[in-house]
Amino acid sequence: MYSDLKNKNIILTGGSGFLGKQITEAFKSYGSNVIILDIIKPKNIDKIKFYKCDITNESKVKKVAKKILKENKNIDVLINNAASDYVPKKKNYNLSLEQISLEIWKKDLEVGLNGSFICTKVFGSIMASKKKGVILNISSDLSIIAPNQKLYKGLNFIKPVTYSVVKQGINGLTKYTAAYWAEKNVRCNAIAPGGIQNNQNKLFLSKIKKVIPLKRLAKKNEYNDLILFLCSDSSSYMTGSIVVADGGRTII
Ligand SMILES: NC(=O)c1ccc[n+]([C@@H]2O[C@H](COP(=O)([O-])OP(=O)(O)OC[C@H]3O[C@@H](n4cnc5c(N)ncnc54)[C@H](O)[C@@H]3O)[C@@H](O)[C@H]2O)c1
Repeated sequence: MYSDLKNKNIILTGGSGFLGKQITEAFKSYGSNVIILDIIKPKNIDKIKFYKCDITNESKVKKVAKKILKENKNIDVLINNAASDYVPKKKNYNLSLEQISLEIWKKDLEVGLNGSFICTKVFGSIMASKKKGVILNISSDLSIIAPNQKLYKGLNFIKPVTYSVVKQGINGLTKYTAAYWAEKNVRCNAIAPGGIQNNQNKLFLSKIKKVIPLKRLAKKNEYNDLILFLCSDSSSYMTGSIVVADGGRTII
């Protein structure tokens, strides 16, 4: 399965992060060339190409795209995965809707939306000019439903409004891009994954289990097959889909 991914050049934004590592390993196991664009260097991943690149900087992304094209001749897949984990310099920031600062709003939208737009524009245009390519956007189950703040009560955390706005924007970008470049043979889909097990607080885990029909968060490699499928020729008749994989959370 997915043998067409062998030797394909996969641009992965935010590849140095938690999910990025899983995605990288999954593509490597099929012989793809993973090219990571991130502001931090990936740890513990061998044999990948890494470009230190802030995806919100259009001229930098264009420069990196030129270098990649020179070295690899082609760009086959773009995965818009990077997200902001921004902590303002002033420590006592507040994420409530009443108090969230414009600084945080701008930073989250800048990475999640502007960055995905810039990469789509730059790498997608290259694919469109060659009349072949695939874009996969990493959205969230929280693009379908609003965050339930009760899950975070007692944890000194609020899921910020920016998360919903970015992820719903990503779904819009996905459908727009899919329709726009359909005739150029560039497909664009998104996954809307639920939360992933990552040593979360026990109180949070006990609460979130109750709102997920499968009664657990996803295992860290549990989206790999879906991602490979959507980036390979196996999904050749899919474009503009927002594929939900959330243990059933959004159905109840
Ligand atoms: N982890 C989860 O439970 C979960 C659930 C649903 C959806 N998601 C989505 O999956 C994606 C990956 O999440 P994650 O948990 O791996 O997050 P993460 O914070 O571990 O990784 C995000 C990566 O993006 C990079 N990044 C941030 N700003 C950047 C910029 N300006 N330019 C380039 N790179 C930049 C970071 O350096 C980091 O390596 C995100 O879009 C997230 O919203 C995650």
